[in-house]
Amino acid sequence: MNDITSRLACAPVVPLIQADDPSVAIATARALAKGGLTVLEVVLRTPAALECLQALCALDDDIVVGAGTVLNAKKTHDCIERGAAFIVSPGLDEGSVHAAQSQDVPIYPGVMTPSEVMRAISLGLDVVKFFPASIAGGVPALKALGSVFGELKFMPTGGVSAANLHEFLAVPSVLACGGSWLTPKAAIADGDYEQVTTLASEAIKIATQTRGEQK
Ligand code: 3PG
Repeated sequence: MNDITSRLACAPVVPLIQADDPSVAIATARALAKGGLTVLEVVLRTPAALECLQALCALDDDIVVGAGTVLNAKKTHDCIERGAAFIVSPGLDEGSVHAAQSQDVPIYPGVMTPSEVMRAISLGLDVVKFFPASIAGGVPALKALGSVFGELKFMPTGGVSAANLHEFLAVPSVLACGGSWLTPKAAIADGDYEQVTTLASEAIKIATQTRGEQK
């Protein structure tokens, strides 16, 4: 287990940060960390995403910042250059996987089918994103994949929320869940960072309870 994987085992929820402005990204990250979520994913879906990523990676805060929606090897390098501690992608792009592996940075590419899982395993991966989790079969699909691919861990994302987090985290092969529900656009636009902290605390509470039940 690398450092990030073991940190995710303790705080197994990864909020997505989609920001146009580094100061908003920083305020969002701090609100999430205040609620207990310290492994964060900046998604490359805005023109300022790389700048936001760099600003968060430069903070002296106790947070782990990765990059998401990374679609190719060039973007993988760009993100690592700006300090990304891990890379997430909606799909499995071998160039991105090799780019991340060549720099010893963990990468969690998205998979949806057994064949994609097998490609991920043959690339030497032990953690993958399961995306879009709810459309790809949700908890029953994860259980089926988990029973076949013993050692592999999944990070379901896409349709995960406070309402179903418990069910996803209760699946033994799930390392962590990702999602955008923790960073509602409207709350952030209104500067309501307390709401972000409340959502993060709620997620940690659900995670602690679920993982406690598994012991
Ligand atoms: C992702 O990039 O992982 C998804 O867009 C997140 O899906 P969600 O908005 O349903 O959480």
